[in-house]
Amino acid sequence: MIRSVIQGCGSYLPARVVTNADLAKTMDTSDEWIQQRTGICQRHIAAEGEMTSHLALKASERALEHAGLKASDLDLIVLATATPDETFPATATRVQAGLGMTKGAAFDVQAVCAGFVYGLSVADSLIKNGLASTALVIGAETFSRILDWDDRGTCVLFGDGAGAVVLKAEQGAGTTADRGVLANALHSDGRQHDILYVDGGPSSTRTTGFLRMEGKEVFKHAVVNMAAVVGEVLAKAGLETKDIDWLVPHQANKRIIDGTGRKLGLPPERVVVTVDRHANTSAASIPLALDAAVKDGRIKKGDLLLLEGIGGGLAWGASLVRW
Ligand code: ACO
Repeated sequence: MIRSVIQGCGSYLPARVVTNADLAKTMDTSDEWIQQRTGICQRHIAAEGEMTSHLALKASERALEHAGLKASDLDLIVLATATPDETFPATATRVQAGLGMTKGAAFDVQAVCAGFVYGLSVADSLIKNGLASTALVIGAETFSRILDWDDRGTCVLFGDGAGAVVLKAEQGAGTTADRGVLANALHSDGRQHDILYVDGGPSSTRTTGFLRMEGKEVFKHAVVNMAAVVGEVLAKAGLETKDIDWLVPHQANKRIIDGTGRKLGLPPERVVVTVDRHANTSAASIPLALDAAVKDGRIKKGDLLLLEGIGGGLAWGASLVRW
């Protein structure tokens, strides 16, 4: 059985760090309010002219180096983003050109904060179906560009960044001891559009628009749907919560992460948290958290990882990966 095995990972954060105290200088907010409600202490913000493709390219170069592979080995790039450089073409093609990759295909997927899990599932399916053999899956965002900086209820929550993994087709035994992606589960519910969306776009207002959110509603859906999709993906693989070595969740809010961990009965020591340093980087948050825990040595070869995320759509999903 063909498995998509993660060969390496990488990430990149823009140089500029904006702390909660920095925000409190220009708007009616406080470090205490933001930390208590979200666990966020700081976020990275892209420089003028620094685009999603630039962050994605740097994360991709680091992932390829970590994997010991070259751009010429790749035949697929799937880039998850809700903040592309341009309406078209796909930002993935910018990364393709930047890396110097000339064969195969590069395209974007749009599932906002669930984007990385969607991208991983798509790449995994293409690999398993023989349409690709070596793939880069990237989550990259410049959410600072779609924030209404006059809306303190949303602008304090997000940051910019990128993370990437390199997948390679390998023959597995077809058991859960195999390395690679073991199972995926994806969902969306378009009826929930109004609780989290951007009020602009090429076909509606012909502007980019700003993020709008009903935070309390999103919170409720997040905890319920996350616990359910985790159960679903574990059942698909025939595994149980106790088998998970690391939960690597979308980093929206410390309280959502804690709530999901509690519902699953996972101790906090087995949950990777970076929301304090990165804030919510949408599609980039899972690969950023993954890279942090791999590079500091917490995640080791053979560990079972549960990746999960939810965002605008609503769209949500989970992937079970043997590292
Ligand atoms: N600083 C200070 N006060 C603020 C701020 C701020 N940045 N933002 C809002 N307030 C005020 C409000 O004006 C309100 O004041 P009032 O009572 O005088 O009217 C008060 O704080 C409470 O506002 P609420 O919006 O009710 O605050 P709540 O406790 O719901 O917390 C939050 C808001 C943090 C957004 C919460 O709802 C939440 O975590 N939701 C989850 C949404 C999320 O994480 N979304 C990320 C994108 S989706 C995803 O990635 C899953």
